[in-house]
Amino acid sequence: MERTLILFKPDCVQRRLVGRILARFEDKGFKIVGMKMLQVTPELAKRHYAEHVDKPFYPSLEKYITGSPLVAAVLEGLDAIRVVREMLGATSGLKAQAGTIRGDFSLSRQMNLVHASDGPEAAKREIDIYFRPEELFDYSLALEPWSRAEDELGG
Ligand code: CMP
Repeated sequence: MERTLILFKPDCVQRRLVGRILARFEDKGFKIVGMKMLQVTPELAKRHYAEHVDKPFYPSLEKYITGSPLVAAVLEGLDAIRVVREMLGATSGLKAQAGTIRGDFSLSRQMNLVHASDGPEAAKREIDIYFRPEELFDYSLALEPWSRAEDELGG
């Protein structure tokens, strides 16, 4: 089982799309193991987006991500990191394929609605940034036996 960090970014909250997009992840079969609303501060933005801090678009990215509260969640499932990224589509909503979340809901490179971790190391780092261990839950869903074979692995 893999866990990935999802941010329903400020544009997603402001456009009241959190429920519809969260429903796509739940429909796919992912389990929510943590979720909360928070206001990202400039300090938190710099920690999360450390690799982008020196890029020309960073000031605008920080203004956007701190501009309104967002909803952070941790989703769990087989191959969660890759599958969620594929569901999001390309970074820019202008390039993302129809049928993906950004392809269906975004017409912007920056305001692309949802962030998701891009690999196992990023997932661990980002989950640690946004959630304390006691804010994440281990529990079973009653439908799990009907969602995949008992011996099924990712891949
Ligand atoms: P995200 O997946 O959260 O990772 C970094 C974010 O920076 C990205 O989504 C976009 O919101 C934003 N971003 C990436 N590239 C650009 C760019 N070239 N110009 C402006 N914003 C960008």
